[in-house]
Amino acid sequence: MTAQRGQGVFSPMPVSGIALGCDYNPEQWAPEVWREDMRLMRQAGVDLVAVNIFGWAHLEPRPDEYDFAGLDQIVDLLHENKIKINLGTGTSSPPPWLSTRHPEILPMAQDGTTRYPGGRQAWCPSSPVFRSRALALVERVAQRYGRHPAVALWHVSNELGCHNAHCYDEQSAEAFRRWLHKRYGTVEGLNDSWGTSFWSQRYDDWSEVQPPRQALSARNPAQLLDFHRFSSDELLGYYLDEVAVVRRHTDAPITTNFMVTAHIRNLDYWTWAPEVDLVANDHYLDHRLGDATAELAFAADLTRGLAGGQPWMLMEQSVGAVSWQPYNLAKGPGEMIRNSLTHVARGADAVCFFQWRASAQGAEKFHSALVPHAGTDTESWREVLRLSQTLDRLDEVAGTTVQTDVAMLFSWQSWWASEGEARPSQAVGYLDQVHRAYRALRELGVTADVVSPQTDLGRYRLVIVPCLHLVSEHEAAAISAYVAAGGHVLVTFYSGIVDENDRIHLGGYPGAFRELLGIVGEEFVPLPPGVRVGLDSGGSGGLWTERLRLTTAEARACYTDGPLPGVPAVTRNAYGAGTAWYVATELEPAGLREVVREVVGAAGVQPLGPEGDGSVEVVRRGDGRRSYLFIVNHGSAEVRHPATGVELVRGETVAGVVPVPPGEVRVVREESP
Ligand code: GAL
Repeated sequence: MTAQRGQGVFSPMPVSGIALGCDYNPEQWAPEVWREDMRLMRQAGVDLVAVNIFGWAHLEPRPDEYDFAGLDQIVDLLHENKIKINLGTGTSSPPPWLSTRHPEILPMAQDGTTRYPGGRQAWCPSSPVFRSRALALVERVAQRYGRHPAVALWHVSNELGCHNAHCYDEQSAEAFRRWLHKRYGTVEGLNDSWGTSFWSQRYDDWSEVQPPRQALSARNPAQLLDFHRFSSDELLGYYLDEVAVVRRHTDAPITTNFMVTAHIRNLDYWTWAPEVDLVANDHYLDHRLGDATAELAFAADLTRGLAGGQPWMLMEQSVGAVSWQPYNLAKGPGEMIRNSLTHVARGADAVCFFQWRASAQGAEKFHSALVPHAGTDTESWREVLRLSQTLDRLDEVAGTTVQTDVAMLFSWQSWWASEGEARPSQAVGYLDQVHRAYRALRELGVTADVVSPQTDLGRYRLVIVPCLHLVSEHEAAAISAYVAAGGHVLVTFYSGIVDENDRIHLGGYPGAFRELLGIVGEEFVPLPPGVRVGLDSGGSGGLWTERLRLTTAEARACYTDGPLPGVPAVTRNAYGAGTAWYVATELEPAGLREVVREVVGAAGVQPLGPEGDGSVEVVRRGDGRRSYLFIVNHGSAEVRHPATGVELVRGETVAGVVPVPPGEVRVVREESP
């Protein structure tokens, strides 16, 4: 226990070393299987097990009738086997009796239709009935197990907001009004912030304000933005209500699993992170993306950002395929270990999986698990055992932090605001632009901390600002001050356009960064998908161009054709003691990498990894006394990387160079220089 964080006592990790863990759903199996599970968990060296994630219907089979017999046995079995418990509060999915007796807890979609039980998380975040029934269960669970010596961590609900973040029923409408009242004080304040003089939307009374239900035309974008904020805050309030109950009965750390992943953007985790005792994330490879492995690295760096640079916990990932994508790809040999160690390289001190034993029934019966349907005479089980041994060898890395002097800004609020209903180009996706910038850095061998726009940037040499569409005056001023003091920034298009109320920063684009960048944008000139324009620096741009005028900046590349021949596409501006670059079009990956390479060089950043296609990742973790170099080889050829010290995965001394076979990872405890 080291420092105060959130409401609880901040304990970096519930288990020492680099923990191996999993979700365990024994209620799906007969008790004979539980004994076998314990034997196999010991064989696999499982340190931490999450139970009671979906326990409600078992613990409270009828209203106010509690039955803890099954969970008692499981908790005791795990304890006897010296396995620590990550105890779920059990509230993630209500039992059928609750929604049958109280259908008002069911969520409503934006078209006014009800979402029924039969899946999971069918509850409205603003439902008072749901909240009071859930908190009553939490009280019982916390009372019973709060002081149990095996319970090392508390797991509130599960992936809050995965399915039910936005509810549009009358209970949510009332809660939204209360939230708005608190934020704006008066209806006039609300009218001003939402710009309701447009389209006759002026409100005269709070009772007239609605959640942004499905409408006939584009909805008020500030209302949509506030509804995102409200919905995130509403679930955070719910999380804190559960925490308050659990905290009365335990000193153990309390958290919940975030979803820092490509396809979910419901919660503003910058506001959540200070409220959890340790940051935990669920990450699944998303093969709907161009480069799922690059996204893994990005998500890990962003999770570390949420943890303020401190170690964090990978609460869920899969051993092999998931079951919820259109095509659920299996992992190749070694891929699960390699990806696990990529998370560790980027700051994870615990590697956990969904789930222990593959379900025989239910909607996730095709999801991979540590123990597959085929049992333990399988390659995947043998790989689990190898992972466990490898993590044990890396125990000494725990507690160290990732070393880098580059940051990238990320904002859920910008994500929400930039993807409004009526905008210059529907083809511009926030995450896509962020991923492009991230990939350029990764392909140059540079690791970035992914941080909030409110972070103190002083310690970074370089800050990348991709598509930061929404930025407050205050945040923009801090970024400018950072550059004036000698920092370097690279800003990409569609940044700095609106303030926190989704109001345009007037006077020319990109309003918030106009002076910093030394340019004035007069008009957006987006391009239809597929259309490319040439650049005099070579290569081409697509998707977006702008009628830009230079004020103090110099042009580094101009368009040679298309709608804006001769107009700058890439600019550089000396600002105070630093430099600010702007990229006004979507460069090809190679073109963006060229610009980023120049900026990285000018900022004096030394890439750790080799330049390439990103398949070799090199990351350093350390703490001033110790230093560990991770070399991850996702590629198909051997890599030889400079390093001297002891290589921990194989336990060998390396002098000058460490060979990393294709698909493998090496971790060198570096000799102090
Ligand atoms: C997560 C969830 C788990 C399981 C897993 C499957 O969303 O927390 O319960 O559903 O995904 O990938």
